Amino acid sequence: MAELVVASNRGPVQFEVDDDGNLTSGRGAGGMVTALGPALAGRAGTWVAAAITEGDRAAARRVARSGRLRTVELPQGPVRLRSLAFDPREYASYYNRVANRTIWFLHHHLFDVPRHPRFDRSFRVAWQHYEGVNRAFAAACDDEADQGAEVFVQDYHLALVPAVLRQRRPDLRVAHFSHCPWSDPGYFQMLPSRVATAIIEGMLGADLLGFLVPRWARNFLHCCLEAGYRVDFAASTVRTGDGRLVSVRTYPLGVDGDGLRERAREADARAQDRVVAELTRGRSLIVRVDRMELSKNILRGLEGYGMFLERNPRARGRVVHYALTYPSRRDLPEYQAYTAEVKHMVDSINERFRTRTWEPVVLELRDNYPRALAAMAAADVLVVNPVWDGMNLVAKEGPAISRRDLVLILSRNAGAADDLGPGALVVNPFDTAELAEAIAAALELTPDERAKRAALLRDGATALPPQDWFAAQRDDLAALG
Ligand code: G6P
Repeated sequence: MAELVVASNRGPVQFEVDDDGNLTSGRGAGGMVTALGPALAGRAGTWVAAAITEGDRAAARRVARSGRLRTVELPQGPVRLRSLAFDPREYASYYNRVANRTIWFLHHHLFDVPRHPRFDRSFRVAWQHYEGVNRAFAAACDDEADQGAEVFVQDYHLALVPAVLRQRRPDLRVAHFSHCPWSDPGYFQMLPSRVATAIIEGMLGADLLGFLVPRWARNFLHCCLEAGYRVDFAASTVRTGDGRLVSVRTYPLGVDGDGLRERAREADARAQDRVVAELTRGRSLIVRVDRMELSKNILRGLEGYGMFLERNPRARGRVVHYALTYPSRRDLPEYQAYTAEVKHMVDSINERFRTRTWEPVVLELRDNYPRALAAMAAADVLVVNPVWDGMNLVAKEGPAISRRDLVLILSRNAGAADDLGPGALVVNPFDTAELAEAIAAALELTPDERAKRAALLRDGATALPPQDWFAAQRDDLAALG
């Protein structure tokens, strides 16, 4: 049993079964793991996560047979992992239909509103699966948590866990953290009212609710107000039906600059320097690194680059755009269609502008972290233009490891704009003409101006490393108790 338990859908590593039936593991994708890995590694705590891949399920079965928890090694130290395997069909409707296709879409305003969402009978069944998985997570936390332990529940997949856990274990201190934005109250009410109520009630089972920036916390408070709760905006608290006060606080998250620079100096990343140099051949390098994700706004990013080439004929042949994207949520039809559209747009820009010796855009469609590090370190410009984003850690990783004083083009709708605004070129993510101008402006900045901005970016990016971010939540939770 542990005094500290963390619960999230995705765990710190992902297992695959190789051709010989052996298990291999790789780094879990996305910002949530990037943050929690360093925060938790080396501490005496237990991380409860879902078995997502077939490899994860095989790993969970092997550990279950041995009756022990698996210890996984992260770069920052070991973590004890409790992996939960679910019926694959139930897991798919919890993860795909409810968590990703509904709640994630909602908080990032991704619905194609004339057509979606539709909350039909099949959604009701999927919602029951979401409830079931949340109950199972709560039971596992209950199992793992010592008397009076602290439990940190992560993200929109597990919105119901705090309330279930409070019922089962009133002795625990519970926090929930949202790694994504929180939608405007009007948009939030698109959910069936039973579902909207359950999400808010579920989260209010916690003692402490954390958000990445004040905008998302404010939206949440407004949703509570609309749902009939007493909200104190000055104190940032919500009074629950049973008279408790829940604190809603903001914990901005940055990257561990030294740790990342060390990681970028490791042999596998350095080996990628040559690949990147070969691709660049002395040209200016514009990079993006994203999951293949609708909210990352990859299509408008490419469109803006195409427009930049159209309006700046002299830049042709002198720049190259390296778009590193890695697959995500491939079961969702929207993501499959989006991937096809991205490929199509890359092809059409290349067909239009390429020469015998120059390919304007190079698209990479696989997870290659060492190469992403090498590309960010060598980039002149990093484009981070999400439609909405809780924080966006790529915007912080790039400046932290840049060897060239990179210029950051950053969407104002990313939480990271709060910390990086003064150093970045901030854009409206829907305005592709503005993005085209920002790319031109970025490439024309003087070395002095670049250095000045890069210093601001580095400071903003590394001010709140994951360890401090997590420690602040632990301190607050202890003080609230
Ligand atoms: C975002 C979410 C995380 C999630 C990650 C990767 O960062 O906030 O909770 O783990 O995306 O998405 P995936 O669906 O692959 O876990």
